[in-house]
Amino acid sequence: MDTKFLFFIGLFSIAQMAVGQSRTGEASPWAWACRTGRGCVKVEKDSPVEEGDNMNNPTLAGCKLTCNDESVLWPKPRNAIYLSKTLVSFLPIDIRINRINAPSSEVKSLTNEAIAIFRGVLRKSIPEAFRRRNQTAKDGQRPQIHIEVSITSGDVRLAMETQESYNLHVKTIFATAATPASPRSTTSVSITATTFFGARHAIETLSQIMAWDKTLESMIMLTDANISDSPAFRSSDQVYQPEDIKELVHYATVRGVKIVPEFDAPGHVGSGWEWGERAGMGQLALCLNIEPWHDYCAEPPCGILNPINDNIYSVLSNIYQDMNDLFQSDIFHMGGDGVKFTCWNETTEIIDWLRARGRNDYSKEDFLYLWSHFQNRSLEEVDIAYGNKQPIVLWTSPLTDDGHAEKFLDKERYIIQIWAKGTDQSIAQLYRQGFKLIMTNYDAWYFDCGYGQWVGNGPNNWCSPYSGWQKVYENSPRKFIVNFNETFNSQQILGGEAAIWTEQVDGAAIEGKLWPRSSALAERLWTDPDTNWRAAEHRMNHHRERLVQRGIQADGLQPEWCHQNEGYCFL
Ligand SMILES: *[C@@H]1O[C@H](CO)[C@@H](O)[C@H](O)[C@H]1NC(C)=O
Ligand SMILES: *[C@@H]1O[C@H](CO)[C@@H](O)[C@H](O)[C@H]1NC(C)=O
Ligand SMILES: *[C@@H]1O[C@H](CO)[C@@H](O)[C@H](O)[C@H]1NC(C)=O
Ligand SMILES: *[C@@H]1O[C@H](CO)[C@@H](O)[C@H](O)[C@H]1NC(C)=O
Ligand SMILES: *[C@@H]1O[C@H](CO)[C@@H](O)[C@H](O)[C@H]1NC(C)=O
Repeated sequence: MDTKFLFFIGLFSIAQMAVGQSRTGEASPWAWACRTGRGCVKVEKDSPVEEGDNMNNPTLAGCKLTCNDESVLWPKPRNAIYLSKTLVSFLPIDIRINRINAPSSEVKSLTNEAIAIFRGVLRKSIPEAFRRRNQTAKDGQRPQIHIEVSITSGDVRLAMETQESYNLHVKTIFATAATPASPRSTTSVSITATTFFGARHAIETLSQIMAWDKTLESMIMLTDANISDSPAFRSSDQVYQPEDIKELVHYATVRGVKIVPEFDAPGHVGSGWEWGERAGMGQLALCLNIEPWHDYCAEPPCGILNPINDNIYSVLSNIYQDMNDLFQSDIFHMGGDGVKFTCWNETTEIIDWLRARGRNDYSKEDFLYLWSHFQNRSLEEVDIAYGNKQPIVLWTSPLTDDGHAEKFLDKERYIIQIWAKGTDQSIAQLYRQGFKLIMTNYDAWYFDCGYGQWVGNGPNNWCSPYSGWQKVYENSPRKFIVNFNETFNSQQILGGEAAIWTEQVDGAAIEGKLWPRSSALAERLWTDPDTNWRAAEHRMNHHRERLVQRGIQADGLQPEWCHQNEGYCFL
């Protein structure tokens, strides 16, 4: 076939109409040139063509679709292999769905819904006055658009690992002069995707290589295209990129704050570890998403690392390496929170592993031994990643309670972060054993306490009540030690940290929950005064005003009158 000849026939009507007169209105004096190094520019229709101007598609819509390398696609496909510079005009009613190859009726029906949305989008792009008007050409002679969609996976849930890639192929065959009765052209659109989601994205892309051309009073689209596309990231709006972390670390450094990275393990994991089996690495995490979740973990979605799968340690090694590179911290937090034994206890390969080591009684001691194995192995990886033996932090847990810390953890390496109540005997025990401690006792320094339940009903969450700034202020790690009748050793109490967890707070409300209570904590840890909150009240009130002035949405403490009348508000 002589393709040049065919193109000529197909494009004839467009070119003729474009340079001619709008069918309904006045002749427009304007045309659009695709100008080298610029893009579409408005020129006088009858002016001589300037050098570097291409007038192949002289309408605004036509120029936009064909002038630039990526057409007008948004977002830019990662791999637009070919986009034609030629156009075909058509009517939306001439778009036919030839076939939808889908593995299930559910996928097929979703695809039909996406196509209905697509048709709606096209309809909206056409001005009301033209929607009902049909072109004069007979049905059989109008350009036809034939769409075929092929989807291979029955997956209809958009999950973290869902394949969203697609290929969109558009090819136009023009009628020859020898076949005047057939349509002027037939444009075949072939969409192939693994999942419905990929196909949906392809349909969106298809809608973007089409446009209403108001000069031609017709829909137009690229005659040919071949686009392979897939997203660069999954769930990308809730991801911290390396640059974000660097910016955060810098932001903190400028303000005299050190960010201590924590990689919590082996509990509180699940999402993000599912790929192990697909990658031939075996199960990296066990009991993923298991229900009822409360039998297996502290909060959903459940999951716990599989300590006897050696592949876990090479994955962890990479993570530790990245965290070291990004945070540049001289202290590393290994978590150790939220470990429940139910899952390990129900996993045959774990039980076999314990048996092989003479541990046959399914006891807490057996599982602590397994946990200790995990802790020791992952610590080796931290040491390799950091290139030195830096201090490691772990939360209080069954591994640190009841004298277990002494048995399993080296007190020269491990710092224990206390989240138990300030009066808990385990604090005294760890202190006497010589461990260094960081205080985050929940009865004063958990800033998420004192709100309603997020799981179950009842007016108070698990660690209620709310700790007002006064309580935060008076929470003295030094006094805890003295109250245990021990001599305070500042080498052993490293300080404290307030915690706010994200079950009931996000970016929308965090400032009021953190401030000004964090300021109360700051004075406790910076000054460690012997005086009580009353001595600090007037300064605290003023500081809260200062925070607000600096743009921080700090919670109110007292009526403004108290700020203006110091010393009158206390009862
Ligand atoms: C436009 O053409 C289609 C298909 O030929 C036909 O079903 C429809 O009734 C026509 N609409 C008008 C307003 O003539
Ligand atoms: C589209 O591009 C891809 C990648 O280069 C190629 O494999 C495929 O054959 C092309 N499709 C068509 C129909 O040309
Ligand atoms: C493990 O399961 C066994 C049998 O179901 C039970 O007797 C044992 O108490 C469990 N161990 C732990 C630590 O929960
Ligand atoms: C882990 O290392 C500690 C010493 O650092 C040791 O006491 C403990 O027995 C080790 N755990 C296991 C399971 O080998
Ligand atoms: C500390 O000593 C006092 C006086 O001897 C005693 O009353 C108190 O119970 C002791 N506290 C603790 C926590 O052992």
